[in-house]
Amino acid sequence: MAILLKGKEVSARIKDELKEETAKMKTRGINPGLAVIIVGDDPASRVYVNNKKKACEYCGINSYEYALPKETTEAELLKLIDELNNDPKISGILCQLPVPKHIKEQSIINAINPNKDVDAFHPVNVGKIMTGDYDFVPCTPAGVMELIKESGIDVNGKECVVVGRSNIVGKPMSMLLLHKNGTVTICHSHTKNLAEKTKKADILVAAVGIPNFITGDMIKEGAVVIDVGINRIAPKKLVGDVEFESAEKVAAAITPVPGGVGPMTIAMLMKNTLKAAEINN
Ligand code: GUN
Repeated sequence: MAILLKGKEVSARIKDELKEETAKMKTRGINPGLAVIIVGDDPASRVYVNNKKKACEYCGINSYEYALPKETTEAELLKLIDELNNDPKISGILCQLPVPKHIKEQSIINAINPNKDVDAFHPVNVGKIMTGDYDFVPCTPAGVMELIKESGIDVNGKECVVVGRSNIVGKPMSMLLLHKNGTVTICHSHTKNLAEKTKKADILVAAVGIPNFITGDMIKEGAVVIDVGINRIAPKKLVGDVEFESAEKVAAAITPVPGGVGPMTIAMLMKNTLKAAEINN
């Protein structure tokens, strides 16, 4: 039976540390503030945004929500971002994705001041992640690295397999593992003989967005399995990209869904917001 990597508990510890850090920053006259933009009424996005606001409140970070109707034009959204870029009370800006189809996601990402880009999605920050000289680490991959550390496993020299190549998770995840001297394989929808690849992984990260996609027979005995997926398969039933029941029988350590990577992502967002407040002060 695998050890559970309980992101909920680890993130609570991190948020307690960040709460103290925020209080210390305030004594130096620095008041961190996070602007969260949500366009439209996607129910999953609403839940994520509410959780981000709650975490800000817990850590003592000011949060400013901008809830815009789904008809908002790209020009209107760009104007708001420009205002937030120039607003000294805003340390970090996050536009919850996805945005409605008539808005170009990359235009929005490109418009955010890289020094306020707490998601680390701006090309400047993406480039910095490639070189290893970065201020902001993208929140989900950063949270995964913390959980791997928590599992007691040293990435150095390990076979790491990342399933999924998104800009938000798969690609930066691969870079962070590479910076820690992992031997990284990136798999995706065109990968042939996927199970052959995943079975070689000492550290397996699943980030494909398909419920129960990775099954126990695709996992090496004793692997660390990190499940980034959050898939709602019934009104009250969330599952990951890994079939938990079969996977936990072979893995040495595994993240649960919910309560694994999800809460870590939010803790890392808080960390990036404090970093942004320091940088912009
Ligand atoms: N949508 C899903 N994950 C994320 C994230 O990490 N940041 C933003 N801005 N939107 C998301």
